[in-house]
Amino acid sequence: MKAIIPAAGHGTRFFPASKVIPKELLPVGRKPAIQWIVEEALEAGVDEVIIVTSPEKSLLRRYFTEEPIWYERLQNKAEAKAALEEVDLLSKRIRFVEQAEQLGLGHAVLQAAPLLKGEDEPILILLGDALVLSSTPCACEMAEISRENNGASVVGLEQVPDEKVSRYGIVAGKKLENPNVLKLTGLIEKPSLEEAPSNLAIAGRYLLHPRIFKLLENTHAGHGGEIQLTDAISSLLQEIPVLGFQYPGKRYDIGNPQGYLETLNAFAGSKS
Ligand code: G1P
Repeated sequence: MKAIIPAAGHGTRFFPASKVIPKELLPVGRKPAIQWIVEEALEAGVDEVIIVTSPEKSLLRRYFTEEPIWYERLQNKAEAKAALEEVDLLSKRIRFVEQAEQLGLGHAVLQAAPLLKGEDEPILILLGDALVLSSTPCACEMAEISRENNGASVVGLEQVPDEKVSRYGIVAGKKLENPNVLKLTGLIEKPSLEEAPSNLAIAGRYLLHPRIFKLLENTHAGHGGEIQLTDAISSLLQEIPVLGFQYPGKRYDIGNPQGYLETLNAFAGSKS
C-alpha cells in the first residue's frame, strides 16, 4: 500500500510561527508532527509515503534526508543517535513531490499521481496537519475496514457540532451493520448548516481507489475556488462503493496555535 501526505499549505493559520518552519515540523514530544503521521502510515502496512510539499518548505525534505555528519557528531550520544537512525530508516520510504501553486487539496493529491502510476490498491491519504490519537493507529483501522469490504474506499469521519459544520467536508450516507460504518451517498465541501446533510465531517484520513486521480484531473475548482478532494470523491462514489468510517481515535489539528496546544497536552501523557 502507498500513502500520500499533503503538506504543501502555507500554514497561514499559524503565522508568523510557520513563516520559516513548516507547521508539520513543529515538535510534538520529541518528534516533529509529520513523523507521527509517517509512522502511522507505515504501521498500517504502507511501504512508500509520498509527501506533497511546496518549494518554500525545503526544511521538510531536509528533515527526511540522511546527513552523515550527524553520525560523527553523535558518536558518544547513544540515545540521540538511535532517534536519528529511526528517522533515517523512515526517510528510505519517503519520496517528495512539489505542488508549485496552492490550488487546493485535490490538486495537491493529484501531484502524487505520476509517482503512483499502475497502482491498483487503495491509496492512503493522511492530512499533514491532522494527528490522530488512538489505541490502534487510525490508518490500520481504515485498512481493516477496507479489507472487510472487498477493498472498498473509506473516508475517515467524525461527528462535529452544528457551529463547526461549515469548516469541513460533510457526508450523507446509509448505516451498515457496523454502526460506525456508512455507505456514502454524497459529500459536500464546507456547506452551510442548512445545506449540510449530516453532522459527520471528513476527518483527515482517506483510503481511496487510485481511480481518484483520473477523477481529480476532471474536477473543476469548487468551494473557495480550489480543486477539492471532496468533489472528486463525490464522483468516485457514482462508480464504486465508498464507505464512511467514524473512527474511534481523536483527531488533533496542529495547524493553529490552539489546536497545537491541545495536541501537545494530549500526546504528552500518552505517547511521546
Ligand atoms: C480539508 C478537507 C475537508 C476536511 C478537512 C479536515 O479541509 O477539504 O473536507 O473536512 O480537511 O480533514 P481544510 O481543513 O484543508 O480546509
